[in-house]
Amino acid sequence: MKIDPSAQSPVRLGILLSGRGSNFLAVAESIRAGRLTGVEIAIVISNVAEAPGIAAAAELGLRNAVLVSKGRKRAEHDADVTALLEAHGVDLVCLAGYMRLLSPEFVGAFPHRILNIHPSLLPAFPGLDAQQQAFDYGVKVTGCTVHFVDDELDHGAIVLQRSIAVLDDDDTHTLAARILAEEHVAYTEAIARVVSGEYEVRGRRYVKTGSKGAREQGSE
Ligand code: GRF
Repeated sequence: MKIDPSAQSPVRLGILLSGRGSNFLAVAESIRAGRLTGVEIAIVISNVAEAPGIAAAAELGLRNAVLVSKGRKRAEHDADVTALLEAHGVDLVCLAGYMRLLSPEFVGAFPHRILNIHPSLLPAFPGLDAQQQAFDYGVKVTGCTVHFVDDELDHGAIVLQRSIAVLDDDDTHTLAARILAEEHVAYTEAIARVVSGEYEVRGRRYVKTGSKGAREQGSE
């Protein structure tokens, strides 16, 4: 179900992360700087207690929680995360380096309301170490993808992609750094697109529409 762009109150984001949290911080900075409007971060949740991203959330004064996933059954952990997101009125879940597959129940609780960012041009190089995979394959162009999350890994409808050239003197670190810079732009832009409500998802395709047209067609 899409976000209603005519709603008066800000769209509430729930950020899930496991590590560094630079994408989360880029989104938070976009909101602070007024580049991303009509949204607020309702809660930041980490499944890893030591994640620097959750410490950063606390420093920014954002509501935050750690729900440790290690050693727990996926369905049970996801039920707790879902309940916490719902308790905080989250409209849109943003995975930002969340190193967990989501259960079908989790995905079903937020239909077309979970975004993920991945450091390759999907469907190329899904899964872990995407930048290394791209480098080793020898592609000349790579980038990042923001997509809706479905039941398959790095698979749902693509909201946007940003590309960069792979340079002859790149190594995996320089390549990953340039991709990350694009990620930080892409996530804000993708959230803005989704929050606008001015799109339809036709099969696998995210297609931009006028908000009026989308409402008249009553589409997802
Ligand atoms: C990013 O490269 C993102 O694309 C991937 O995990 C990494 C997270 O980095 N899903 P950060 O924690 O946002 O800095």
